[in-house]
Amino acid sequence: MNIGFIGTGNMGTILIESFMNGNAVKQEQLFITNRTLEKAYNIQKRYPNIHVMPTNEEVVKHATIVFICTKPLHMPDVLKQLRPHLTDHHCIVSITSPISVQQLESLVPCSVARVIPSITNRALAGSTLITVSERCTEADRTTIEHLFRSISRPIYIDEPITRIASDLASCGPAFFSYLIQKFIDAAVQQTPITKEQATTLATEMIIGLGALLEQQLYT
Ligand SMILES: NC(=O)c1ccc[n+]([C@@H]2O[C@H](COP(=O)([O-])OP(=O)(O)OC[C@H]3O[C@@H](n4cnc5c(N)ncnc54)[C@H](OP(=O)(O)O)[C@@H]3O)[C@@H](O)[C@H]2O)c1
Repeated sequence: MNIGFIGTGNMGTILIESFMNGNAVKQEQLFITNRTLEKAYNIQKRYPNIHVMPTNEEVVKHATIVFICTKPLHMPDVLKQLRPHLTDHHCIVSITSPISVQQLESLVPCSVARVIPSITNRALAGSTLITVSERCTEADRTTIEHLFRSISRPIYIDEPITRIASDLASCGPAFFSYLIQKFIDAAVQQTPITKEQATTLATEMIIGLGALLEQQLYT
């Protein structure tokens, strides 16, 4: 099955790289594009067998599961543009939390899913939050789950907890990175420790804490 990507900014790129690292798909199965095409060609430089398409419509012509990785603001226009080209066979996957599965369904005639990734998926770690529409076939669900199991722990969520679940799973890394940065800065300002030493200690501490939690030795 071919997979499409419309939008290869930060998150689109992270997902493509993660799927490559997690051996979830072959390069030949990926059909990608971006408003500024150069960004898609930059990905192709690293994965030469990925297909770069000149337009969003071309992606939909070649792929069945199509990830839309634009900012929420651009999503309605992109879907309006794609609508005449979508059939029952397509499944649109949005990665943005502010637009609900019901809203997505109202914009396209095919099945839709929303999967909220996290930057931690780049290390094939962390969770992904999945919500599927009733129009999704068993095959769509299986493919989406297979893709995300290769890079994360997929967790199904219902619409009402979308905001808080995204804050915990997807925004969490930004909050904690900021906190750790402040932790390091304070240590360097207040004591003779070097920035390099403080960074090493803080990094090892957070990795160790993750291991404790993973092994359920600490909750
Ligand atoms: N960043 C995160 O940690 C994170 C985590 C979970 C979910 N998300 C979600 O991921 C989505 C993307 O975020 P991001 O940080 O990756 O944003 P981003 O870096 O700005 O990427 C968005 C990409 O969409 C492209 N684009 C815009 N309009 C387009 C169009 N009409 N056709 C094709 N491509 C188009 C942009 O192209 P240009 O190069 O021309 O600007 C840009 O490369 C957001 O909805 C966000 O909520 C992000």
